[in-house]
Amino acid sequence: MTCRILVVDDDEVNRKLLKEVLEKEGYPVQLAGSGEEAVKWMKRDSFPIVLSDIRMVAMDGMAVLRESKRTQYQSTVILMTGFGSMEGAVEAIQEGAFDYVSKPFKMDSLKQVVARAAKHWESLRDFKGSSPPTQLDMTRTLIGKSPEIVDVYKTIARAAMSASTVLVTGESGTGKELVAHAIHNNSPRRQKKFTAINCGALADNLLESELFGHLRGSFTGAVSDKKGLFEDSNGGTIFLDEIGDITPALQIKLLRVLQESEIKVVGSSEIRKVNVRIIAATHRDLEAMVRNGKFREDLYYRLKVIEIHLPSLRERLVDLPDLVEHFLARYADKNKKAISHVSDESLKMLLNYSWPGNIRELENAIERAVAMSNTSVLFPEDFPSEINRGHSLGASAFNKAEEPPFRTSLEEMEKGHISKVLHDVNYNKSKASEILGIDRATLYRKAQRYGIDLRGK
Ligand SMILES: Nc1ncnc2c1ncn2[C@@H]1O[C@H](COP(=O)(O)OP(=O)(O)OP(=O)(O)O)[C@@H](O)[C@H]1O
Ligand SMILES: [Mg+2]
Repeated sequence: MTCRILVVDDDEVNRKLLKEVLEKEGYPVQLAGSGEEAVKWMKRDSFPIVLSDIRMVAMDGMAVLRESKRTQYQSTVILMTGFGSMEGAVEAIQEGAFDYVSKPFKMDSLKQVVARAAKHWESLRDFKGSSPPTQLDMTRTLIGKSPEIVDVYKTIARAAMSASTVLVTGESGTGKELVAHAIHNNSPRRQKKFTAINCGALADNLLESELFGHLRGSFTGAVSDKKGLFEDSNGGTIFLDEIGDITPALQIKLLRVLQESEIKVVGSSEIRKVNVRIIAATHRDLEAMVRNGKFREDLYYRLKVIEIHLPSLRERLVDLPDLVEHFLARYADKNKKAISHVSDESLKMLLNYSWPGNIRELENAIERAVAMSNTSVLFPEDFPSEINRGHSLGASAFNKAEEPPFRTSLEEMEKGHISKVLHDVNYNKSKASEILGIDRATLYRKAQRYGIDLRGK
């Protein structure tokens, strides 16, 4: 099947121009003069690509995008945005548009976007029958059920299905690299290479030759030709970590990769085409860097077509118990130790700590505690002193005896409370039931259920 394109625009001149240009490129084109008309076509027939204007009277491009997701044939949607406005574009990508072109656009850049969309569609089509990446599989790698992290999963899912650039932000140790992996592993590129490089760790010229490659003799020490990571990862994904650290000179070169899918090898004037999905990450505030003139605005917008912000561990403490369990199982297994859980007191301590190093710090703390422990349970003393210290300081502010143990189920609390009351009244069942506000029959039933000995043994 050829890659048919549905062009949606309420401007007749534009419509006809687009038809002419795209047909010259070999794509069969169907025109629609409004959003409503586009929907009719989409319901009737399959269009691998829908190219729609965003601003149209009545039904706009966003609505066309949403409707396209509802039809049985899922189209790859490209939106044409109004003059210089990026806002609608970002929203469109987040709702699943493949890409956008901002007006006024050069026909060449439009052709490029359409060509990429066609490729994307082909790769999706090739997946059908083998193992389509429909069902996301993040559960095994990414732990957490908090609303904050569930939002992240959703964006990963959308990002995986699109070819757009992704910017992952968040404090150190929040899982930025793990998210980049998840996107790649769930994308149609997952059979191809995933390459990670830390832009902050290399000097400018080294980073450039690492990314773009160099020709022999292009600088002292370049004894042979070297293929750059962009070429080496062709068809795959490249993860540019600490993107906020790159110099202005390299920022321009990167912009070219993003805009034209082209690289220039160091020491050569030849331009080479590459097809690489870029995921960038930083713990810096890029927006502030843009304001201070330290980071190019155009590059910033090109990078954050899809943005994923990872919450700090402090902001999603509800996930901590699951993470603890996950790391405990991993390191107990690795160290061949039969450690099954952390004590209530330890968990309380872990929940009271501020985790400046986020999940990585938690992981390290558990790994260390597992290595130190000789018992089947991890106690506060098994953890690094900074975590422990914070805890004992914090805990002294409470009256420990009055405070119910943290993270116990209601049942456990009830069991504890019934036992305590029974003990206090010397196992006088009438008095106990009076204090507890239940009748004796209920007391017996609960005691039996919780295995409490009513004779006080
Ligand atoms: N949601 C999660 N579930 C399980 N493990 C996680 C999760 N998030 C992060 N981790 C683990 O925490 C550690 C740190 O994650 P990662 O290296 O991805 O963080 P980062 O944000 O890239 O950190 P940095 O900014 O320091 O490079 C890794 O070992 C990773 O496996
Ligand atoms: Mg990292």
